[in-house]
Amino acid sequence: MSTAVAQPNIALIKYWGKVDEALIIPATDSVSLTLDGFPTTTTVTLTDDPIDVAVLNGVTLQTGELGRITRVLDRVRDLSGIRSSVAVESTNTIPTAAGLASSAAGFAALAKAASAAFGLDLADREVSRLARIGSGSASRSVFGGMVRWNRGNSDETSYAEPLEWNGPELMMVIAQVSTARKTISSREGMTRTVNTSPFYDGWVSSNQQLVGRALQAAANGDEETLGALTELSAMRMHASMLGAEPPIRYLTSESFALIDAVAQLRADGLTAYTTADAGPNIKILTTSTAGAAVVDELTQRFPTLSLLTSTLGQGVYLHQERTPQ
Ligand code: PMV
Repeated sequence: MSTAVAQPNIALIKYWGKVDEALIIPATDSVSLTLDGFPTTTTVTLTDDPIDVAVLNGVTLQTGELGRITRVLDRVRDLSGIRSSVAVESTNTIPTAAGLASSAAGFAALAKAASAAFGLDLADREVSRLARIGSGSASRSVFGGMVRWNRGNSDETSYAEPLEWNGPELMMVIAQVSTARKTISSREGMTRTVNTSPFYDGWVSSNQQLVGRALQAAANGDEETLGALTELSAMRMHASMLGAEPPIRYLTSESFALIDAVAQLRADGLTAYTTADAGPNIKILTTSTAGAAVVDELTQRFPTLSLLTSTLGQGVYLHQERTPQ
């Protein structure tokens, strides 16, 4: 039995679109920040049962929902040569509808806990590859701080790795715009964009260039450039979806009101830049120095808005070493 803990990440330079849907090989690299908080804790126990069982926040997953979990477990069984079924128990503390992908932390924790439970001592890079086949963004939650996912062109070459950030301490503010459930999953949204959006090729080539510029900004510790690139990547990602047939639009008028408000804060001298994923919630990149003022200003403008803050956190870790059966 092994237990692992992982935290969500938010992409600054986004991932949107796969070149290989089965292996989850992305079309572009991406760059993210792993948060400090909202952990997912996952325990994997080897069993004598004929099938795998998974319980998420106390609810047993049905056969269809188990698919992605089983893919990760099958890979671990192949690597270890042990054919046991397992019981997976996972709890996450991500506030409901906060717009944070729980799958990123969930699959990072699953990859780490399952590999340890089967007696494998995998390097972080191998854990990242394993997490990736459950959910692409999970490859990044294996590492702490600022992280790059190398798209690669095969299972072996598509993995995340930590990046050095030489600037001031960064902070994310998460603004919960809506509690409505998202209508189109990121998986479905990506496939539709790849297959039908005439803007997709432009998104892919321009985003890969943004990765290169973001790496330079990270090396220079230049948060202003990093922030500007963050906004560009999000806007271009959402633009690629708007061109899909039928169009995919996650951002609402409230999302844009927040994007405008943050632009105003920036004009007033605060370090603050927006990004958004497959939903209407807005995430704001800021610094620990500016973070409190950003929260104060947004609370004044949007008194009912729920705001969460986080600095950068660590990558996945084992909570409890393997215990003899
Ligand atoms: O790996 P998924 O299915 O969680 O996709 C993540 C997609 C975005 O959150 C929209 C962007 C990203 O890079 O995290």
